[in-house]
Amino acid sequence: MGIKIAYSGVGATLSITVVAVIIGVTLGLIAALCKLSKHKALSLPAKVYIELLRGTPLLVQALILYYGVPMLLQQHEIMFRWDYPIIAGMIVCGINSSAYVAEIIRSGLQAVDPGQTEASRSLGMTNFQAMKLVIIPQAFRIILPALGNEFVSLIKETAVLSVITITEITRKSTLWSSVTFQSWPAYLGTAFVYLTLTIPLSRVVLYMERRMAQSDRS
Ligand code: ARG
Repeated sequence: MGIKIAYSGVGATLSITVVAVIIGVTLGLIAALCKLSKHKALSLPAKVYIELLRGTPLLVQALILYYGVPMLLQQHEIMFRWDYPIIAGMIVCGINSSAYVAEIIRSGLQAVDPGQTEASRSLGMTNFQAMKLVIIPQAFRIILPALGNEFVSLIKETAVLSVITITEITRKSTLWSSVTFQSWPAYLGTAFVYLTLTIPLSRVVLYMERRMAQSDRS
């Protein structure tokens, strides 16, 4: 029974995760490129953005966005309420993830040997061409497994959103447990359901890693 209840939250958990990954990769890519930029006006805000998001708990960020922001707006006479808390959940997880993704992308780009840029430039490519044709394809292979792991982490991190009334897997179980007092089956079932999502995904990430190691060797 515990498992069945927890499963009824899978749709919410997975949809939040998928949207958050899309937001995270998009914003993360922008933040990484800004952070690597030679212009201070771009790199400084990117650094601050990443530090702030990685230096505060996701739980606190969720509370700020879901409860704090509507209050701030109301003080300025703008009536605002999160009619769909799940949207707030997608946004907060996406923004939080973008800071981690930015660091993954930055380290991936920096891991490509600088000689590759020099070689491309000496073949007559512009900086942009070198980036697009030589650096990014190589960095992509380095980044992919780490991005996969971020996906797995996000599935688990969404459990935090149960505090902002989103009925994902964990909240389904806490609600059921508070009515039936079946704490042991409720939370064991919760753990089991997360495992059925994370284990297959980690396997896929592992497979990708192996495939890439193979193509590196050949
Ligand atoms: N649990 C930590 C926090 O509260 C880490 C969040 C990790 N987020 C991520 N997208 N990998 O901040």
